[in-house]
Amino acid sequence: GMSRSINLAVIPGDGIGQEVVAQGLKVLNAVLPQDVKLETKEYDFGARRYHATGETLTEADLAALKKHDAILLGAIGDPSVPSGVLERGFLLKLRFAFDHHVNLRPSRLLPGVATPLAGQPEIDFVVVREGTEGPYTGNGGTIRKGTPHEVATEVSVNTAFGVERVVRDAFARAQARPRKKLTLVHKNNVLAYAGHLWTNVFTKVAEEFPEVTTDYIHVDAATIYLVTDPGRFDVIVTDNLFGDIITDLAAAVSGGIGVAASGNINPSREFPSMFEPVHGSAPDIAGQAKADPTATVLSVALLLRHLGYDNEANRVEEAVSADLGGRGDTSRTTDEIGDALAVRV
Ligand code: NAI
Ligand code: MG
Repeated sequence: GMSRSINLAVIPGDGIGQEVVAQGLKVLNAVLPQDVKLETKEYDFGARRYHATGETLTEADLAALKKHDAILLGAIGDPSVPSGVLERGFLLKLRFAFDHHVNLRPSRLLPGVATPLAGQPEIDFVVVREGTEGPYTGNGGTIRKGTPHEVATEVSVNTAFGVERVVRDAFARAQARPRKKLTLVHKNNVLAYAGHLWTNVFTKVAEEFPEVTTDYIHVDAATIYLVTDPGRFDVIVTDNLFGDIITDLAAAVSGGIGVAASGNINPSREFPSMFEPVHGSAPDIAGQAKADPTATVLSVALLLRHLGYDNEANRVEEAVSADLGGRGDTSRTTDEIGDALAVRV
């Protein structure tokens, strides 16, 4: 038959990133059919590289990464590096360089997983967060720094082009799901300029997707519904800042940081997309084999689906569901959870 291959860049990064990525690769190797050739190349980005060379992500690094089909990332960040250096110099730099404008964060409460919400509600929604605009572009500055008269600006950038492409991606994802419902989350009553642009684009693109039911909720109200009635959501589209905040809440209600997966996607495929757990490097538990690798394994499922391996993606998600069903045993090590998942796929 036709030979297929995946050329994967692997960035374990810092702290538990190393531990969880090893399990993600274990499951990926186990689920791929014989005829798929998996090539991996590991990159040493993160705190060690920064301390050794002062570099976070060079132009040469970007050129090397660009050649891959996809990127699997653990986590980047360490207390030994000044705050912001790796976040801006690696995570944000890569997101902008590879135009990862769709930040995809599914929230599904799997059977057997504890939620802080009462009554084990049905939770199955996806947040499509804009990844390259909003207040995260570094468009701002400070004057009179360090004085009682310090002034700081952090300007939210919203372009018709940037909003339309992420809104269209969200409509397409809603169209492909059984419930076909898309909710715009913003704050268009107060952030009227950006809110107007988002609302207008949303209404215009909606005409191309007559089967998709649409809805609008202010971001503050969305935080209420995510707790009181998460079942009302199917697909949510929102800006970079609101998306950052509501996806942490979404992770908290749907099983916690140990199972929250994400994709930083370039839908045009001009650059490789990157898949990573939502959590960070967890220095408090690093090196103790306590990290839950499930979020990374679910990120591998997103990676597989992005590359067109839908059956394999489903098998990984089913393995996680089945494994979580037997949970409650918190004594398993990172490696033991990875082994259990690799056996189930
Ligand atoms: P964190 O997500 O690393 O840890 C928060 C808490 O959750 C800690 O108590 C940790 O032990 C726990 N935790 C996280 N992942 C877990 C897992 N898989 N299994 C079990 N427990 C888990 O967030 P924190 O502490 O704010 O950040 C630590 C470092 O990670 C910082 O340097 C931060 O900048 C970086 N970070 C990196 C991200 C990335 O690479 N995309 C994302 C978030 C944070
Ligand atoms: Mg965040």
